Amino acid sequence: MRIGVLTSGGDCPGLNAVIRSVVHRGLDVHGDEILGIEDGFRGLIEGRARIVSHDDVTGLLTMGGTILGSARVQRERIEWAVQNARILAGNLGIDALIAIGGEGTLTAAKMFSDAGLPVVGVPKTIDNDIEATDVTFGFDTAVHVATEAIDRLKTTAESHQRVMVVELMGRHTGWITLTAGMAGGAHGILIPEKPFDIEAVARMIEERFERGKTFAIIAVAEGAKPAPGTFPFDHGSVDQYGHQTFGGIGTRLAHELEDLLGKESKPVILGHVQRGGTPTARDRVLATRFGWHAVEAVHKGAFGHFTALRGTEIVLLPVADAVHRLKTVPPDQWAESEAVL
Ligand code: F6P
Repeated sequence: MRIGVLTSGGDCPGLNAVIRSVVHRGLDVHGDEILGIEDGFRGLIEGRARIVSHDDVTGLLTMGGTILGSARVQRERIEWAVQNARILAGNLGIDALIAIGGEGTLTAAKMFSDAGLPVVGVPKTIDNDIEATDVTFGFDTAVHVATEAIDRLKTTAESHQRVMVVELMGRHTGWITLTAGMAGGAHGILIPEKPFDIEAVARMIEERFERGKTFAIIAVAEGAKPAPGTFPFDHGSVDQYGHQTFGGIGTRLAHELEDLLGKESKPVILGHVQRGGTPTARDRVLATRFGWHAVEAVHKGAFGHFTALRGTEIVLLPVADAVHRLKTVPPDQWAESEAVL
């Protein structure tokens, strides 16, 4: 078979490991030809693709980013591509497509499958907000990077008796902030699922200082919001791809805390550092397993399905299971993080 593979949406450590795995499994076991489509669905629409050989994937297991490039595409362009799915597949001569991406990519995968371009999805996102899989690859790496940042901030915060507010990625969900915050022993963990009361955060820091501690670390997700009626803050609206924009909650929070506490408070925005560089061992393995199962899924004809981790097994599930809602942090799990404050 000639199988197209593309990486779509924001990049994520482990994408290259999936590509490598798809090439190894497809070429060595099934005698497939793998066509790498450039820049996600944009390359599919524009007919930009190249054959990916064994040589092309040498050394990819440990490499961050994606050799195919990735891009976000406006919804209207995707809808146009879906209507022309058969023609686009014909232009590239592909029999099937493996689409590696987040919620938007998986939704598109189902639409393309229904329209005559058979697609298997592979879920990725550092945010870990995809329902129906225990975890997505990239998340472990992002948590690792964020935890290391918190560890490092602690020593400098202590030297200067400062409050450090570290803003981490997570649009609608606080998985990275919760997990890295707990692993790094942050004193406050603020996530989008639980709007926060700044007075309560300031009180907690004050009490900490009264107990003789000389610094505090607050981990805040970029999508975290103040509780209604506390202080006004506007994240803005959505960008051209329909994604929420962010208003800089970390910087604002640090300024507000400095005013309330009269203590030096510094914002640190970790941003895309969380997405760059080599994947952790756990992400390399998960990405490799997803690639292996995606090729098998193509040969079984499990189109409109995606690879998911359930316990220790990789299973194939209908895309609808992944996209019907975001996987948010449940209240009882957030409550466990209070134990470390
Ligand atoms: O969805 C993954 C993610 O890294 C989010 O955590 C973050 O808000 C967003 O992508 C950033 O997107 P971009 O790279 O387009 O700025």
